[in-house]
Amino acid sequence: MWQSTASRRQFLPSWCIVIIRTKSQGSLTLENLNPNIIKLQYAVRGPLVIRAGALIKELAGGSSKPFNKVILANVGDAQAMKQQPITFIRQVVACASYPNLIKSGSMPADVKQRAKDILKSCAGQSVGAYTMSHGIELIRRHVAEYIEQRDGHKANWQDICLTAGASNGIKHVLELFCNKVDCKPTGIMIPIPQYPLYSATLTEFGIGHIRYYLDEDKGWALDINELERSFTDGSKTHAVRAIVVINPGNPTGQVLKRGNIEDIIKFAHKKNLLIFADEVYQANVYDKDSKFFSFKKVMTELGAPYSCCALASFMSISKGYTGECGLRGGWMELCNMDPKVQEHLYKAMSAMLCPPTIGQIVCDCVAKTPCCGEPSYELWEKERCAVLDSLKERSEMIVQAFNGMKGFKCNKVQGAMYAFPRIELSSKAVEAAKAAGKAPDVFYAFKLLEDCGICIVPGSGFGQKPGTYHFRTTILPQKPLLKEMLDTFQKFHQKFSEQYP
Ligand SMILES: Cc1ncc(COP(=O)(O)O)c(C=O)c1O
Repeated sequence: MWQSTASRRQFLPSWCIVIIRTKSQGSLTLENLNPNIIKLQYAVRGPLVIRAGALIKELAGGSSKPFNKVILANVGDAQAMKQQPITFIRQVVACASYPNLIKSGSMPADVKQRAKDILKSCAGQSVGAYTMSHGIELIRRHVAEYIEQRDGHKANWQDICLTAGASNGIKHVLELFCNKVDCKPTGIMIPIPQYPLYSATLTEFGIGHIRYYLDEDKGWALDINELERSFTDGSKTHAVRAIVVINPGNPTGQVLKRGNIEDIIKFAHKKNLLIFADEVYQANVYDKDSKFFSFKKVMTELGAPYSCCALASFMSISKGYTGECGLRGGWMELCNMDPKVQEHLYKAMSAMLCPPTIGQIVCDCVAKTPCCGEPSYELWEKERCAVLDSLKERSEMIVQAFNGMKGFKCNKVQGAMYAFPRIELSSKAVEAAKAAGKAPDVFYAFKLLEDCGICIVPGSGFGQKPGTYHFRTTILPQKPLLKEMLDTFQKFHQKFSEQYP
């Protein structure tokens, strides 16, 4: 049996295999495990990250390495890289979780009031109680007000669902597509490069990946001819029913121009596609010539018939200036969804009971920020601006450093939290990678990790044009650490280029 499963076992870390070998297997074995789960890959937490974790332990255990720390530039987790939480958010969370604090004198009045309002909306006035499956009504109303202020157009609070992070909302909506249409399996258009939640979830749900390539030479813009090509090719084998757009982009860091968004909406309308607008980085725009436009706003302003496009947009508390990844909060807004379908979606969500209350509270703070004149306003503004200004500075530092390295080409990081440089690898490096049984970009990233302790994600984890090599690094290490990382990177690359000329 082990021989026949050898090829499957390669997807599992070795400790899993030991457990499977030694424990009673019951009815669930590799033979009968959902094959989509075996196929599913998620590069952001893949083998490099597992190795990085092992190196951290080895260093802590006193092993000698050519570096004294591991720098985790692989995941968009701002607080893990020492970004400070926003005081107002943590104070509201603290008061709501431990209401005795509301009685104490140490908290600002607006914090106490916010916590009281939220608690009034919680069953038993406790954050420990289940909430409605699509979230606390008061907070959904605040999110609708946030969207109205952002876009200048009406938002219906009943079309807003609070979720356990954007991932949770995205998965719920993707799941609606698990069906054949006219005997054809469903396919969904995803950008390449893309954030691997999409490829992983489509694989998990058995939905086809209909890839469209972003244009690196045009700053990762989205070309409508390429969308047409992708749709036409995809339609040969699949019923293509939706398109995912990530704006600002992960891993590519571009911010779509308004005209580009208009063209995508017209394309989606023509092909009858639901648009997944992944807008979790809407607060992360650094480039002075770029501006974030939501799909909802552009679609509404295009007017009929485009304003009737089906749209699901997603937001998260993990990104922006908050970086509250571990508290798991986010929201989605559904526009022009068939009401009966929306009812079934809400029903399916209710089977998961509710998103975490603490994450919902953070959503409330992001949607309804302290107002000018309120006690928390000044500190809020100061902290928010400090985070965003520093991210902007780091986004520029990184692009400048990479573009100064021979064989690197890095587009401007207009937004989000990542740089995705293209790197030329010599035929010698490609041969060495082949001999090591690794893709060239994976080989490069492993060598960087083993030699310098810097953990990045190879471009193949996000998808890239065949024959091109990239990697993604976050811009999240704080400035002194980022400087150290870039200096080390530069030296490593020079040595690597000499070793594989
Ligand atoms: C583009 C994009 N969408 C969604 C998510 C998921 O965010 P959350 O932590 O809210 O689930 C991420 C996380 O990195 C992301 O980059």
